[in-house]
Amino acid sequence: MSGCCFEFHVAPLQGYTHQPFRTLTNLLAPSAIKWTEMEKVADLQPMVAASLRKRLEGSEDDGNNLVLQLGSNNAKDLGQCAGIAAELYPNLHEINLNCGCPSISSGGATGYGASLMKDPDLTAGLVASMRSSTNGDISVKTRIAVFDNPEDLRPLDDRDYRYLVNYVSSISEAGAAHVILHARPAVLSGLSPVNNRIVPQLDYEFVHQIARDFDGRVKITLNGGLNSLAALDAARNNQGQISSYMSGRFCIRRPLDLLNVEQSMMSSNRIDVHSALSNYLSYALARRDKQQFTLAELCLPLYLVSEQLREDYEENEPVQLSWEDIELLHDLLQEGLVELSNGKVKPNASINFKKLTSSFKPVVGTKVVNKWRRNRAEL
Ligand SMILES: Cc1cc2nc3c(=O)[nH]c(=O)nc-3n(C[C@H](O)[C@H](O)[C@H](O)COP(=O)(O)O)c2cc1C
Repeated sequence: MSGCCFEFHVAPLQGYTHQPFRTLTNLLAPSAIKWTEMEKVADLQPMVAASLRKRLEGSEDDGNNLVLQLGSNNAKDLGQCAGIAAELYPNLHEINLNCGCPSISSGGATGYGASLMKDPDLTAGLVASMRSSTNGDISVKTRIAVFDNPEDLRPLDDRDYRYLVNYVSSISEAGAAHVILHARPAVLSGLSPVNNRIVPQLDYEFVHQIARDFDGRVKITLNGGLNSLAALDAARNNQGQISSYMSGRFCIRRPLDLLNVEQSMMSSNRIDVHSALSNYLSYALARRDKQQFTLAELCLPLYLVSEQLREDYEENEPVQLSWEDIELLHDLLQEGLVELSNGKVKPNASINFKKLTSSFKPVVGTKVVNKWRRNRAEL
């Protein structure tokens, strides 16, 4: 990847970006900004502080580069929750409002996530309520456009751009200085959450134009389709006013590539992959003993690493690691899994990534493995 300063965010991903995963990403890319999964404010009530403590367990370890993402359409509850979160976790990098997730409306809780894009005044009220409850930074993660049905999808034009300008202006005037734009329209019904990440076309030019038009007023982060180091490099080579990027599925498909991202952000940070994984194992063993997380949660990040190594090993194309490194990592992961499972998982005699990834299955859970396979197939 080419050098120079930029900001990189590991996107919020339900089912993945819990504290164990964030710990691994912190070890691989300490300069990256990490996000929680979206926390629905209604689910945190009525004991908001206790629920936040439970959900953000261990977040002190994230340092000051953690973004808490909230989902709500109720200004009073959202403001109260943001205030409590800021008091409990004063080091939060930002508190974010989810205005981009189309799945929430199909779950019956209409009015959250991407459907907020239909109502700039309501969104502004939500942001203003967060703003008045905390001195910390507030941001909004949203899409570049919103449609009701798949049949409405069409190439974006000036009308859509004016709508987005108005939306970003409302957010900015209400007190958020950072907007993360997933560079695809959202479709509110008739398109599954997965297809909402595949079918609507990416339009990076929309994001660039917004970044130009709001230069100096709102920081814009580009998200969507940055699925490889090469894609991130290409985006950075065409950066315009954008110097902040977010990737989601790339980070769960190729977590070790975060080493390269870190090098590009901070060339003086030479992270050794073996130490990073050994440190993660020590963390996981300690958390297992304190029963702070389930074994499945603690092993998921290691499973993701094993899948990446399997891909590299089978395709004969390790991005950055020598074969010797990969084989050493195989043993480290295998020994770690045996230890974490208290010997329930038996080691394989030879280097075999297919067997290694399979041996994670009973620990991580078939449902989780299948979900990951579906998410991987999205790319
Ligand atoms: C499994 C999964 C869970 C997600 N959960 C969230 C979430 O909780 N909050 C959110 O704002 N976006 C969520 N997203 C969307 C991602 O943050 C990101 O915007 C999207 O995947 C596009 O980026 P990518 O192409 O780099 O993956 C999720 C995406 C996936 C694949």
